[in-house]
Amino acid sequence: MRLYTDYCDFLHERGLLRGTLTKAIKIWTGCGFAHLFDMLDPKVILEIGRFDGHSLGLFRWLAPEAAIISVEPSPRPHAKKVIDALWEHGLPGETIFIDKTSDEAFKDPGLLNLRYDFALIDGDHSYEGALRDWGNTKGVMAPNGVVAFDNTEMACGKVFDRIDDFKTVKPFHVNFRKDPADGGQFGLVFMGDRP
Ligand SMILES: C[S@@+](CC[C@H](N)C(=O)[O-])C[C@H]1O[C@@H](n2cnc3c(N)ncnc32)[C@H](O)[C@@H]1O
Repeated sequence: MRLYTDYCDFLHERGLLRGTLTKAIKIWTGCGFAHLFDMLDPKVILEIGRFDGHSLGLFRWLAPEAAIISVEPSPRPHAKKVIDALWEHGLPGETIFIDKTSDEAFKDPGLLNLRYDFALIDGDHSYEGALRDWGNTKGVMAPNGVVAFDNTEMACGKVFDRIDDFKTVKPFHVNFRKDPADGGQFGLVFMGDRP
């Protein structure tokens, strides 16, 4: 299994582990994703919300050969530096940067024609935004894919309690994060469990 801690060391050695990065995904989340990816072995990944590229780099680290589509309306140069460093390190997978909102990105047939084994919904964090992202994402997931929602207990407003799709089958909540004030829980939706 590829380790989150090795990814942090990799960034640290190259001066790429910035405070802004460590805020986004901390050790509990990173180790949780490492286990999830070990199980899932995702080949095609969708990320909604890139920021400085910490989760994007982590997905590349954990799934070196996967194709990753990363959606972000306000691209920041640091994310590109992280991905370039991983490419130079020999991780061969293709990373596609879509510098648009997720609503705009979901109009792109190139994005819609793929089937994703894993998706992260970590974009605008409003309830309405998370609902729209879920509505768009669920139609492009592979049958046994997994969708991760960040901040399910905070800005999205207990999003799982309010989405009709989750009234019968409850998504799996993971306390990847130690401090609930730091973004709350991740929620995982296993598409194979959907009715
Ligand atoms: C919490 S940050 C993402 C952090 C990143 N996933 C990580 O863990 O390293 C949220 C990002 O979503 C972006 N964002 C905001 N609205 C969005 C939208 N409608 N579609 C996609 N991304 C959006 C923001 O610009 C911001 O960079």
